[in-house]
Amino acid sequence: MDDIHHGRLTREGIRIHEATDFAGMHKAGELAARILDDMVDLVVPGTTTEAIDKAITDKVEAAGAKSATIGYKGYRHASCISVNHVVCHGIPGPKVLKDGDILNIDVTVILDGWFGDTSRMYVAGKLSRKSERLIQVTHDALFKGIEQVKPGNTFGDIGHAIQKYVEGQRMSVVRDFCGHGLGRVFHAPPNVLHYGRPGTQAVLEEGMFFTIEPMVNLGRPETKVLDDDWTAVTRDRTLSAQFEHSIGVTSDGFEIFTLSPAGKFHPTYS
Ligand code: MF3
Ligand code: CO
Ligand code: CO
Repeated sequence: MDDIHHGRLTREGIRIHEATDFAGMHKAGELAARILDDMVDLVVPGTTTEAIDKAITDKVEAAGAKSATIGYKGYRHASCISVNHVVCHGIPGPKVLKDGDILNIDVTVILDGWFGDTSRMYVAGKLSRKSERLIQVTHDALFKGIEQVKPGNTFGDIGHAIQKYVEGQRMSVVRDFCGHGLGRVFHAPPNVLHYGRPGTQAVLEEGMFFTIEPMVNLGRPETKVLDDDWTAVTRDRTLSAQFEHSIGVTSDGFEIFTLSPAGKFHPTYS
């Protein structure tokens, strides 16, 4: 028995955490969110994604935390930075941002053994109307999913709420990547799908911790992974957006562990 893990597992293998575990998740989540807040002023035309990642690496270290992604399956950076038609897992590098680029920055930290995983959208320079609409729909899709989080609802209810909303806006939900359980581990059961049917899949219980992280495309949902074995792009090269929160199920709803302390989760900051 591994005594760092408290609580029990459901028959689907989903960990039910104890009431005292929420505090650790809250601290880890808040740190990840604060680091993302600090990136807002760095995202400007002319900078590189590796400069942003370097700032993230420094802030994780300064906080006495660890990056969950450095060394994860051979990944070597403290963030994923996914620009324009990159869906997720964009690798920071010498790419120079230009006016109007939209990007997702995804950070996962480990603080006191707890994982905080969050991502959000940014814009370099001026946001186009088309990009703004994609970002708004993706943000609102995440919250349609979060609103379903309470004991007795199912993971299918979450996925359905997201899919129905996004497709109603004539955009598409990526199927090839999903959210995940987390806690004292990075990726645990269940797979949190961003599409589905009401009443299907595991039933939510108080003490479950997981991410919801929908990726939404302006065009078709299909993705492909580039030769670097990480970068996932839209097959049709249309723009893609993503937002991610780490969430815990409470007795009557949810707690969002990764709320932005500065209120900068959404790139129009309103
Ligand atoms: N943070 C990502 C997620 O939301 C996972 C990134 S894994 C990496 O689950 F290796 F690509 F960084
Ligand atoms: Co995640
Ligand atoms: Co993430």
